[in-house]
Amino acid sequence: MYRTVTCGELRLSDVNKTVTLAGWVQRIRKMGGMTFVDLRDRYGITQLAFNQEVNKEVFDKANTLGREYVLQVTGIVEERYSKNSNMPTGDIEINVTELNVLNEAVTPPFTIEEDTDGGDDIRMKYRYLDLRRECVRKNLELRHKMAFEVRRYLDEQGFLEVETPVLVNSTPEGARDFVVPSRMNPGQFYALPQSPQILKQLLMVAGFDRYFQIVKCFRDEDLRADRQPEFTQIDCEMSYVEQEDVLNMFEGMSRHLFKVIKGIDLPKLPRMTWADAMKYYGSDKPDTRFDMRFVELMDVLKGYGFSVFDNAAYIGGICAQGAASYTRKQIDQLTDFVKKPQIGAKGLVYARVEADGTVKSSVDKFYTQEVLQQMKEAMNAEAGDLILILSGDDAMKTRKQLSELRLEMGNQLGLRDKNKYSCLWVIDFPMYEWSDEEQRLMAMHHPFTSPKPEDIPLLDTNPAAVRANAYDMVINGVEVGGGSIRIHDAKLQQKVFEILGFTPEQAQRKFGFLMNAFKYGAPPHGGLAYGLDRFVSLFAGLDSIRDCIAFPKNNQGRDVMLGAPGVIDQDQLDELQINVVNKA
Ligand code: AMO
Repeated sequence: MYRTVTCGELRLSDVNKTVTLAGWVQRIRKMGGMTFVDLRDRYGITQLAFNQEVNKEVFDKANTLGREYVLQVTGIVEERYSKNSNMPTGDIEINVTELNVLNEAVTPPFTIEEDTDGGDDIRMKYRYLDLRRECVRKNLELRHKMAFEVRRYLDEQGFLEVETPVLVNSTPEGARDFVVPSRMNPGQFYALPQSPQILKQLLMVAGFDRYFQIVKCFRDEDLRADRQPEFTQIDCEMSYVEQEDVLNMFEGMSRHLFKVIKGIDLPKLPRMTWADAMKYYGSDKPDTRFDMRFVELMDVLKGYGFSVFDNAAYIGGICAQGAASYTRKQIDQLTDFVKKPQIGAKGLVYARVEADGTVKSSVDKFYTQEVLQQMKEAMNAEAGDLILILSGDDAMKTRKQLSELRLEMGNQLGLRDKNKYSCLWVIDFPMYEWSDEEQRLMAMHHPFTSPKPEDIPLLDTNPAAVRANAYDMVINGVEVGGGSIRIHDAKLQQKVFEILGFTPEQAQRKFGFLMNAFKYGAPPHGGLAYGLDRFVSLFAGLDSIRDCIAFPKNNQGRDVMLGAPGVIDQDQLDELQINVVNKA
């Protein structure tokens, strides 16, 4: 037996027991006739004491140890002379009588501590060492616990976990596919699923009633802090349901997770229409931990000769409470922020509400104090507040810019506390959004999403105004999940495809098997998928989902540890009948 106890479990009540532990050397402290070693495993750290006077041979051996050596020790549990209240095992130490070096270790390229000296690249290259750090491992433990509780909840609700294949063809989420060449079918390719969307709908046709799967999905898209090319969904689908049933079921799941993992009683989730989310927050995933809602100022500020505003299609402001003390330099930095190419605003107008209530703005020469007071009122601003205003000739784009500014102000004013959670449903998404790139309407969620019954007549007259039975769950400005009620009527589906610009032949080629299946009795159904990585990151208070993934990809989509992607042998290419034009 390698060990009788782990490194995390011994307490004062174990004093005088003889125990055997195994683990890694975290730290060595040599103090004259005594050497102390912190021994670490997944469960914690236990202090080992080597005393020259008690056992010279073992003491000498201990002095040859290095960091990350793998040890097996046997000894007696003793009460510590100087206790460490920061460690669960801090009251005891092991007076070691036997030391067995199971493996030596070369010096790791960075320190295996909470605050490591290793930069991102080096930690990713040696991820197995990075994963030895408690702060990283804890995120994976949380992930396990959340996945486990998801399974428990869904199992209790009668959901069946069904695996679906990874080698499939294109799915409808609208990102770029990862493709896999088929040796047995030369010139043909599988696509990795962007989600199991179609397959779960087929499981509803098959009568499975309630399905879920914790499943890898693959999307070849530009990466961000909350996006990985392969990520994990908690994918769910239900039959004979309306939107209300789905929202209640998954609000219940979130409530369960908040309760058992965070000890938080989640209140009933507020619902916000997509239209309101865009109007007041400029985002379909508003961070509602703080208010700072947009106020439209078209009526108040247009028509006074300030051409930027006079020509604008949208003028909107936010009120940053207590920020009137912002210096000129800070405001210049905010101006630079909104002018960054990723945000794209042309400039920033600001107004300070002075202690006596007067308003001083960067556009004073165009506006009388009376007009500025009207603006102050519209903004609900008070003495000490800073009003920030953006305008533009495209209302939607300007709102998105103002949204970025709002979030930045939220950061600067400390309003985005990671330990505070604000959850909501965003509902009533539009069915379609216009794509400048493709010059056509695209499905905002995916093409199987059903329109709101009352909006179906608009499909013929004004499809851009049709709202969908689609919903997202948003927590702290992060879209953690999204789904919809699906179309189960072949004719309606055909119409939706038409509006998306698919000819009947194209629709048949792309999604024919689903359309076919629907001929055999499709139940009304709907569902949603959560991003597990995002959910875990929120609970762990992480800035990037990478930190809760055991082996994540970097921003170039590379696994620097495995060296993937990599070139493959000419033999393999020949077998696949693939000719690489520009070899790496
Ligand atoms: P959707 O595309 O909204 O819906 O994805 C569902 C959830 O998955 C997460 N997510 C991601 N997480 C990390 N990296 C990514 N690249 C990434 N892309 C998405 C988000 C998102 O809310 N089939 C539908 C669901 C349905 O209709 O039932 C779907 O995939 O948290």
